[in-house]
Amino acid sequence: MSDPLDLTAREGLPDALRVLLQDYPRAAWSRDPNFHGLVSFWLDRHLMFRRLVGAMTDDARAFLDRGMEARAYAGRLARLGQTFVAELHGHHGIEDAHYFPVLARAEPRIERGFALLEADHKALDPELAAFAGAANAVLGAVAAGAPAADHGAAFLTRLAAMERLLDRHLTDEEELVVPVILRHGERGLG
Ligand SMILES: [Fe+2]
Ligand SMILES: [Fe+2]
Repeated sequence: MSDPLDLTAREGLPDALRVLLQDYPRAAWSRDPNFHGLVSFWLDRHLMFRRLVGAMTDDARAFLDRGMEARAYAGRLARLGQTFVAELHGHHGIEDAHYFPVLARAEPRIERGFALLEADHKALDPELAAFAGAANAVLGAVAAGAPAADHGAAFLTRLAAMERLLDRHLTDEEELVVPVILRHGERGLG
């Protein structure tokens, strides 16, 4: 049986990992004196990933509805897709190597949560590879002057699947990480 806390299976964090969140509810984060700085910067990175996915979704729909010409679409997809994959890989690498070990030492009660987030990053890798493959199929067809609508539709499906998993990961990660930094400050993270 698969682990109910797997990224593909869970619908939020278990109660045992929400102990700090009770003292630091999301609605109050931006009023906390420790919010501005690393927390706001890091949440902005997550917002950027969400916006890139939203822009790629809008573009794919516009292309499929014939609202955007194929080569214009391909140019945008290449640029946004490369930025998304490169920035997300870099972001995961810094979290795994730097943030998570420091945060787990600061809050051993939720250490298991950081292992969970690291497992999410590993689970997202094949999703990102499949995303890149689907994008490259669109780009290859457009470059060859071949019909690309089927590839565009397949890419949109792949993008939506990835978005569901990425959103689950980002939301749960925010609810684990932000309370720790608000409580302990940025010590060791800067
Ligand atoms: Fe992450
Ligand atoms: Fe993150």
